[in-house]
Amino acid sequence: MRKKLHKILVTGGAGFIGSEFVRQGAAKGYRLVVVDKLTYAGDLARLKDARGKFDFIRADICRAESLDAIFKKERPVSVVHFAAESHVDRSIHNAAPFIEANVAGTQILLDISRKYGVKRFVHISTDEVYGDIEKGCFTENSPIAPNSPYAASKAASDLLVKAYCRTHGFPALIARASNNYGPWQYPEKLIPVVILKALKDQKVPVYARGQNIREWLYVSDCAEAVFLILESGKLGEVYNIGSGYEKKNIDTVKRLLGLLGKPNGLISYVKDRPGHDLRYCLDCSKLRSLGWKPRIDFETGTALTVEWNKRHLYWLESKLEALTVYWKKVYRNG
Ligand SMILES: NC(=O)c1ccc[n+]([C@@H]2O[C@H](COP(=O)([O-])OP(=O)(O)OC[C@H]3O[C@@H](n4cnc5c(N)ncnc54)[C@H](O)[C@@H]3O)[C@@H](O)[C@H]2O)c1
Repeated sequence: MRKKLHKILVTGGAGFIGSEFVRQGAAKGYRLVVVDKLTYAGDLARLKDARGKFDFIRADICRAESLDAIFKKERPVSVVHFAAESHVDRSIHNAAPFIEANVAGTQILLDISRKYGVKRFVHISTDEVYGDIEKGCFTENSPIAPNSPYAASKAASDLLVKAYCRTHGFPALIARASNNYGPWQYPEKLIPVVILKALKDQKVPVYARGQNIREWLYVSDCAEAVFLILESGKLGEVYNIGSGYEKKNIDTVKRLLGLLGKPNGLISYVKDRPGHDLRYCLDCSKLRSLGWKPRIDFETGTALTVEWNKRHLYWLESKLEALTVYWKKVYRNG
């Protein structure tokens, strides 16, 4: 049997990217404690392939007392912090939960991690903290200029992490990833929402004319990068995680429709998202110098994702009722 590696406490491990990290960590032989509130976005079904290889504790990172009790019992050596409210559109309609989970939650987690002497803390952040860029790419030294309430809450949490490094000598690293996609993504994000709607022959909403550009990173590549940053990154540093696969949203949507054998006539252009960032692009040479590169290209990743979603249509459909209630509420209110 594989030797057990050190204990990692993973917040948000029942979410889309966190669960991939847990699956990989279980396969590597890490001892894993998943702490997740199980919001609408969390789902333990994502972890069924790792059953028996991690401990799960349902808890809210904003509840300092329960988090303290968890750390006291579990004594994790490192923390990888994925837990967050993660959907930009939701932050536009109501920013409060984003400030609570992403900013206050991170501060509480930092304090408790410090108190219990955590050796390495990886904070998962996003390319969106840099704002958008017309030409070229953001490096880790680019200024922070977030445009959505979601991005602002992530930027605030990044700054808190940096402040703890500087003020307290806290051993943290920040990973800023570009748009992830792949199996188990909640069907309110672009790629799974397109697949779900198209499989049901419903109109596929695309903001404005689909001219926004995103850099698509397959979720297993992202989780591998996070492991590398955890294991080999330099404390106090920021690492961008980008794939280099830049696509206009309209081309992504057409690619998915093509893979599904559905007509482009399903596309319905809708009013743009307020403040919509036009383009993100990350320079990730710093991470590549540690030895990482993405394994899954966009063509392969989209094909794998479509196949996975077709096989798991029941899972997408299980989210539909709650999503429809949410969409009706939001779109009725403008
Ligand atoms: N999805 C992307 O494309 C992307 C890109 C870059 C960075 N990120 C960041 O990566 C992280 C994970 O993103 P994701 O797409 O997997 O998100 P997700 O929404 O799928 O999962 C978030 C998880 O966090 C949990 N959670 C939320 N609030 C919590 C709280 N107060 N206490 C405990 N658990 C809580 C949820 O239950 C859920 O399981 C986030 O920090 C996000 O900002 C995501």
